[in-house]
Amino acid sequence: MVEKNLDFRSDTVTLPSPEMKEAAAKAPLGDDVYGEDPSVNKLENLAAEMLGKEAGLFVTSGTMGNAVAVLAHTNRGDEIILEARSHIYVNEVGGLAVMGSLMARTIQGELGWMKPEDIRAAIRADNIHFPSTGLLCIENTHNSAGGIPLTIEQMKSNWDVAKEAGIGVHLDGARVFNAAIALGVEVKEVARYTDTVQFCLSKGLAAPVGSVVVGSEELVKKARKHRKMLGGGMRQAGIIAAPGIVALTKMVDRLADDHVNAALLADGLKELGIKILNPVKTNMVYIDLSSVGWNGVDWGEACAKLGWKSRGYGSRVRLCTHYGIEREDIESFLEGIGKLVPK
Ligand SMILES: Cc1ncc(COP(=O)(O)O)c(C=O)c1O
Repeated sequence: MVEKNLDFRSDTVTLPSPEMKEAAAKAPLGDDVYGEDPSVNKLENLAAEMLGKEAGLFVTSGTMGNAVAVLAHTNRGDEIILEARSHIYVNEVGGLAVMGSLMARTIQGELGWMKPEDIRAAIRADNIHFPSTGLLCIENTHNSAGGIPLTIEQMKSNWDVAKEAGIGVHLDGARVFNAAIALGVEVKEVARYTDTVQFCLSKGLAAPVGSVVVGSEELVKKARKHRKMLGGGMRQAGIIAAPGIVALTKMVDRLADDHVNAALLADGLKELGIKILNPVKTNMVYIDLSSVGWNGVDWGEACAKLGWKSRGYGSRVRLCTHYGIEREDIESFLEGIGKLVPK
């Protein structure tokens, strides 16, 4: 039985499945800083294999995963290229400047995709006055752009420019499995044109904690050392890694349901006169309520009356579908909200 979770705020709110809780209780454990936790080792190897990389590293969160990967690629004082609305640039507390002494060079993307010519123009020439460009960071799916899956061709176009210049490519793939499902390819394909990937177990995949960084043995070894420095070396971490194994083996295919539910939600809201701001391709729907004379607070109150959690800033709201929300929940939500939205 799937526990109901009527909460549109994020896919981070997902609760672990019964199988995950059982896996946590039964996980074989050891000291992971010594490399001796069998459950962590199994998760890291499985993640590396699924993404087509040599090695994996279990970390506490997506933010930590991005931080240790970025640090592994760069030297103090480097400049890194990021999309202007990327999570690493906007939502990770400026960690790249604090922890890496890194400068950020942002590029405005088109639905999250940075044009190759813009990247080429942003890469620094070899000149004594300039910082060195140390890394290109990509986000797929791109959250702020609307949960947009970048295509393999788009990924390759960015990779080609980076490699012409001898620069590494890191993917913030917090929702890379959503991208793979939406594109109809194996996740390995989405990871092909990257050197490192960070992906989250605790979003749509519904594990309670954690992310994994994958990449070459060499980069993951460096990332592991940075993880230790940041205090992320955990001991009997198998207890939280074991649900991650269930996430990777049992929860990937069902992401397709979240995408269908998001499309259903968007269609229903559109019929009520609410503006949909993004092409709905994965599990996110961005809406603008000004077309019905509401703001995010009105929306939140109406949702609460129906037993749902949702919130927005100004008149914009992001709605996420995820494990714990079924098709019939969306249908009854649309019926209920239809009676409350001003005509
Ligand atoms: C695209 C993206 N990257 C990274 C993260 C960070 O993950 P965490 O909240 O686990 O630190 C998020 C979280 O929402 C995200 O959306």
